[in-house]
Amino acid sequence: MQRIMTIFGTRPEAIKMAPIIKALEADLALKPIVVVTGQHKEMLATALAAFHIRPDYNLHLMKKNQTLTNITVGALTKLAPIIKESRPAVTLVHGDTTTTLAATIAAFYQKIPVGHVEAGLRTYSRYDPYPEEINRQVTDVISSLYFAPTERARQNLLQEHHHAEHIYVTGNTAIDALRHTVYPDYHSSVLDQIDPAKKLLLVTMHRRENQGVPMRKALQAIKEILLSRDDVEMIFPVHLSQQVQHIAREIFADVPQAHLTAPLDVIDFHNLTAKSYLILTDSGGIQEEAPSLHKPVLVLRDTTERPEGVAAGTLKLVGTDPATIKKALTTLLDDQQQYATMARAQNPYGDGHAAERIVTILKNYLNGRKA
Ligand code: UD1
Ligand code: UDP
Repeated sequence: MQRIMTIFGTRPEAIKMAPIIKALEADLALKPIVVVTGQHKEMLATALAAFHIRPDYNLHLMKKNQTLTNITVGALTKLAPIIKESRPAVTLVHGDTTTTLAATIAAFYQKIPVGHVEAGLRTYSRYDPYPEEINRQVTDVISSLYFAPTERARQNLLQEHHHAEHIYVTGNTAIDALRHTVYPDYHSSVLDQIDPAKKLLLVTMHRRENQGVPMRKALQAIKEILLSRDDVEMIFPVHLSQQVQHIAREIFADVPQAHLTAPLDVIDFHNLTAKSYLILTDSGGIQEEAPSLHKPVLVLRDTTERPEGVAAGTLKLVGTDPATIKKALTTLLDDQQQYATMARAQNPYGDGHAAERIVTILKNYLNGRKA
């Protein structure tokens, strides 16, 4: 059996790698080795538990208020002996986190080929998102196999002169994960807090480049809308970053329509998405999931590496300017036609079978065949 090492460390990586780990486990010719850096702790643990994944190695890196340097140095140092001892045939990394970058370099140092899942996403804006845009560009320089979620991502890779025969359009594994989490008779204590007659706004915000003034301005705009109307409520599962916790709890203190919760289990979060009216977020993964559930997304960023959703009509970039956010939000709350146009748009991120394709491509690659 050929060993495939998956290395990841944060909540979104766990959710999107889970379908691949399951597909590897189901394949008799391949054996997954699951390594987590523990860049996230609680948020990673709940995502792993939701998919019943037990890592073979956990580096337990997370510290409160960790820096990019802490994570990079810790991951590089602790991954080296594990990769050296296990000598996997291929290492799989996902997306654009600091774990992704460090794992890619660690595998390269041992001359192990890297397969990049969700390869080719780009804004081509160096600090937007920071540091993710450069993380994914560097990861793609080092990788040997590219699992691009969309044709657009493939085009980005081709334009950077990566070899066409190593790039595969697979769809995004986020859609695979959704196939296992959403069910119609879902019930949760979080939803019990919401008046069913009200429109539910689902909010998340955590990006480093938004922390501070931009986050404050965006959340203040949402607060003003909540206070000015009696037909909306909000659920905001607040990321555990101290900076985010501080701003969110300060701004929404004493707003009765605002329900701040701990980060939700992914099954709760996906089902809540399905029950919401619309989403305001700066998350990457949520931009991919919401179109499948026919929920409009106001993206609290100036750029996106997921322009497919904007082109499909399901995402709208509103940045963090309060006037722009309030106008877009009011329009979607009041103009049913505009709401329906966004909600009806087609999901451009795949058919939910990306993981199976990735495993087939890996097997062909290992057998020396064109995948
Ligand atoms: C990281 C990724 C980002 C991704 C996000 C997903 C990088 C540079 N950033 O950002 O691309 O969108 O994860 O959520 O890799 N914390 C906890 N418990 C947890 C997780 C985080 O307490 O389970 C707190 C810690 O204080 C930690 C802080 O959050 O220091 C920030 O975590 P970190 O992984 O450094 O950055 P994220 O903003 O989560
Ligand atoms: N998510 C979750 N619980 C929450 C908020 C989000 O499980 O309380 C899931 C969400 O469905 C998506 C992923 O976490 O799959 C997105 O993670 P995040 O926004 O932290 O990171 P990004 O995608 O921006 O890198």
